[in-house]
Formats: sequence, C-alpha cells, structure tokens
Amino acid sequence: MTNQIKEKLIKLSEEIADLISCSSDLINLDEIRVLSLGKKGSVTAYLKNLKDYDEDTKKQIGSLVNQVKSNINNLIDTKKISFRKDLLNNRINSEKIDITLSSKERELGTLHPLSRTIEELSAIFADMGFSIVEGPDIETDYYNFTALNIPKEHPARQEHDTFYLEPDKDGNRKVLRTHTSPVQIRTMEKLNLKEFDEIRYIIPGRTYRSDHDATHSPMFHQCEGLVLGKNINMGHLKGCLIEFCRSYFNVENLPVRFRPSYFPFTEPSAEVDIGCKKEKDGSLSIGEGEDWLEILGAGMIHPKVLEGVGIDPNIYQGFAFGMGLERLTMLKYGIPDLRPFYDSDLRWLKHYGFLPIDNPSLHSGLNGVFS
Ligand code: DAH
Repeated sequence: MTNQIKEKLIKLSEEIADLISCSSDLINLDEIRVLSLGKKGSVTAYLKNLKDYDEDTKKQIGSLVNQVKSNINNLIDTKKISFRKDLLNNRINSEKIDITLSSKERELGTLHPLSRTIEELSAIFADMGFSIVEGPDIETDYYNFTALNIPKEHPARQEHDTFYLEPDKDGNRKVLRTHTSPVQIRTMEKLNLKEFDEIRYIIPGRTYRSDHDATHSPMFHQCEGLVLGKNINMGHLKGCLIEFCRSYFNVENLPVRFRPSYFPFTEPSAEVDIGCKKEKDGSLSIGEGEDWLEILGAGMIHPKVLEGVGIDPNIYQGFAFGMGLERLTMLKYGIPDLRPFYDSDLRWLKHYGFLPIDNPSLHSGLNGVFS
C-alpha cells in the first residue's frame, strides 16, 4: 500500500516538474503552483487522506509529501528567476537608446538690454556701497508731488504728463508714478537714523508719462539715487556721479559736466552731461569731441523735503539723482529707436540682448553696506 502511494507521488512529482520546465510565463507558473500545492492541489490531497493510515505509514507519506513539496517549490523558484532574467533581457534589448540621433536644438534666451543696464548699474553702485530699494508703481499725489516740494498748481506738475487713476470715494486720485523720486520719500520716512551714520540707496523701476515717440514711451524706466548722512556735500555728489558715468560708459577719462538746473526737490540742482562727439551721420562717440550729452538730474536734497519726512536738515544732508534707463541703454549700445524695447520681437532681442552668463559682477560692493 505504502509503496503504491510512494510510486504515485513520485510520478506526480515528475509530471509537475515537467509542467514547470515547460511553463510559458510567470502566470502559468503560478497556476501550476496552485494546482499542485494549493489548498485543493494534487500534492496537498495526499496530506488530507493521511488520517486513514496507521502511524508509521502516516510518517512515511507525510515526509515524502514534504520532500515533494519542497522539491516543487525549488523548481518553481528557479524557473521564476529564469523568467525574470528573460524579461529584463528583453527590456534591455527593446529599450536601446540610439545615441547616434542628433539632439533637438535648444534655443538660448537673451537678457533684455534694459535688464542688463539695471544689472550693470546695480554692480557699479554696489561697489560704492549702495543697496537697492523699490516702491509702488501706483502712487498717491502726496508722494509723487507734494512731499517732493511740488505743491498743487506748481508748473512742474504739468511737465509730468501724468496718468491719473479714477478718483476714490473721497475724490482722491492716485497716479502712475511719473518718476522714481517718490521712493526717496518712502525710504526716508522709514529710516531709523540712529542706526545709521549714512545711507546709500539706488531705486530702479518703472515710471509713466503720457508721451510717445522714437525716444519716449508712456512706460519707461528710471533709476533714482539717494545718499543721506551728517557730512554729505556737493563734492560727494560730484565724485559719485563722475565715477558712475566713467564706469558705466567704460571710458576712463570721460569728461563729465555739472550744469546748474532746477528741480523742486533739490537745492542746488544740476544736470549732468558727458562729453561726446556727434558725427555728421547722426552717430555718437562717447568720450571724445566737443559736444555734450545730458544723461541725468541731481542735486542736494531740499531742506523742505527733509523736514517733511521728519529729518533735521541742520544735522543731516544728502544728495539725490535720477536717470532714464532707456536713454542710458540706447546711448551705450547704439540703439536708435526706443519703441522696439517693448515689442517682444525675438529678432530684436537676439540682436540687442545679452547672454545671461555674461553678467557684470558685484565685486566687493555689498560688503560696504552690510559691514
Ligand atoms: N525725478 C526727476 C525727473 O524725473 C529726475 C531727478 C532729478 C531725480 C534730480 C532726482 C534729482 O533725484 O535729484 O525728471
């Protein structure tokens, strides 16, 4: 009896081994496992009938069944590993990357000439210990005019060609700032002068005036400068701006002229010209020749402006300056027309733009501010 069962079991085990070796894939292999070793499997069935035998036979059949089970498990595991290997090899062969194919061309963007100018200015002024502040494009009448000593009815208001917003419920009309000078006021208002011996800021940003031709745009950019301290005088203003002009235009002995002028928020005021030569064909050579070109306005901050922000003009003095960034950019890079600055024409941007990696460096300038 026991021998018969033994033979049957061995035969069954050989059949299952054959099935395993001929199995087609992992799913088929699992089916074989369930059919032989599962709850209702052909091998498991032998264990279920054990109770009908005596102790000795039980032991013999039991151990044989266990041997068969472990044998089948081993065969299944080995087959599984071989299936997985095949799968991996198939993937490796089918997912080959053809490295001989040339890659798609990547378009490299350029930095807008205005962004470049702002970066250059930032680097030059950082070298002189300036840091950057910004202010809102939509201003109150107070910051844009009144606090800058441009009272109501002052003729300077007309020159600004201001864009006014709809009046609010109290009848107050905000403006699109006509210059970056209001940020001087906002900056000085917030100062805690006990913490500083001196402050130096530049304020780049957008400005707006109702004006449009080859050299004017209703939206344009300015950069303001503000220096305030206990011993600041006109000599500092001149030194700072001469240094700036020479660095920006990269001309070592560039002639710089300070011409008396008038701005309501500075006293004395000056307009700053650089030496140049206007060629007959209309082109310009900066730094040579007998001609002058105006590039910025400046002056010592008016005592009334300082008083307005609660600073005693007998203790603190300062200077300020303001310049148009489009004009500075056009002069340096020989760009004849202002209008394409805002057209987003890729051909223009490619022609006049700059590679982002070719940036002006900050040298050691920021140390001066934070030390
Ligand atoms: N805000 C003046 C303008 O838009 C420029 C200017 C002149 C700014 C003299 C200044 C300054 O800070 O001192 O025309």
